[in-house]
Amino acid sequence: MISKKMQEALNGQINSEFYSAYLYLSMVAYFESINLPGFANWMRVQTQEEHIHTMKIYDYVNERNGRVTLKSIAEPPSEWESPLAAFEAAYQHEQKVTGLVNGLINLAIEEKDHAANMFLQWFVNEQVEEENSAETVVQKLKLIADAPGGRYMLDSEMAQRVFTPPAVEGEK
Ligand code: FEO
Repeated sequence: MISKKMQEALNGQINSEFYSAYLYLSMVAYFESINLPGFANWMRVQTQEEHIHTMKIYDYVNERNGRVTLKSIAEPPSEWESPLAAFEAAYQHEQKVTGLVNGLINLAIEEKDHAANMFLQWFVNEQVEEENSAETVVQKLKLIADAPGGRYMLDSEMAQRVFTPPAVEGEK
């Protein structure tokens, strides 16, 4: 079983993960609009990752005999000043999500819900990766700031990212 409080908190996280997918999908459209298909591809893969995160929590709530309830998803921004501004926003967003995951774990500890605590550890590791991947692109964009052709080269690199679904449920 799952407590009502934990159920509500996990439903909130489902909404946050949906929002992440929505935000990155909006960034896909932004990068397409400024002719950076590689950046758009990177963000498309990111959107797919967020969908996996969402469904992981969704399935967990069901598995614990909880009840998933879906709320409205907030409208994401649709324009950014530059690719760097978009990736800085993505990095900030991931830091915010890390804070939300930590808050869920604090609740699990408070409620002595060891199952939820263990389940959420996957997200702790995932957030290390999520923050790192966005921040790496921020650093690359800063490095190429004034280099002619740098953005084009980075776009080609970003085009290589492929979505790899977790091989086994619960693992990645
Ligand atoms: Fe689901 Fe990017 O955190």
